[in-house]
Amino acid sequence: MRHSNASRKRICERHLQLLTELSRALGEKDRYTQAHGYRVARYAMRLATRLGFGHREVWDVGIGGLFHDVGKLALSDQIFTNRETRLPAELKREVRCHPLIGAALLKDIDYLEPVVDLVLFHHEREDGKGYPFGLTGREIPPGAKIISISDCFDAVTTDRPYQKRKSIRAAFEILRNGCRRYFCEDYVETFIEEIEENGIELENGTDPLLADELIRSATAGAGTM
Ligand SMILES: [Fe+2]
Repeated sequence: MRHSNASRKRICERHLQLLTELSRALGEKDRYTQAHGYRVARYAMRLATRLGFGHREVWDVGIGGLFHDVGKLALSDQIFTNRETRLPAELKREVRCHPLIGAALLKDIDYLEPVVDLVLFHHEREDGKGYPFGLTGREIPPGAKIISISDCFDAVTTDRPYQKRKSIRAAFEILRNGCRRYFCEDYVETFIEEIEENGIELENGTDPLLADELIRSATAGAGTM
């Protein structure tokens, strides 16, 4: 069925609002994940801007960052109540499905095609040992590499139910040690420059304005494409 631009824009808007609701629902299951999504979106947009990405790519990584873990909504409650650093093998296998589930939730949103891959590949690694597909550096979209670095930095610098936060210096070291295995080296250095110059994101990153701003940016392009 063909839709007019105006109705495609409305569908896109509604779908994004639904995703925001799903993220809130995920926040009920796991308060950490919701605030984490907002902070990752901010870090990812800052890094993309510093790397010279265009306006469209910057909000693509913003939306990807915001919803990167939305697929966790489908995971068992046990995963969120687990207080051990290491998960049992079967729960680990389940966690590894979240990029696929998240991408499936995003895939029917017109205009957001590039964002699907950012969510799908945010746990891939430079050395090909990531998941779900084991892609190598050259095959991973730049936006997914940006989200991966932002995700790791935020996870390390904030308290999680099973892990106390580390210092910013320690987080820089983790990122640098992960270069070429986990992360793109050039992006890591640019990310560190950005944090040294402009600081870290506020701890309670839930920011409804950011979600609205991203939805507006996404759908602003929708009417003209
Ligand atoms: Fe994730």
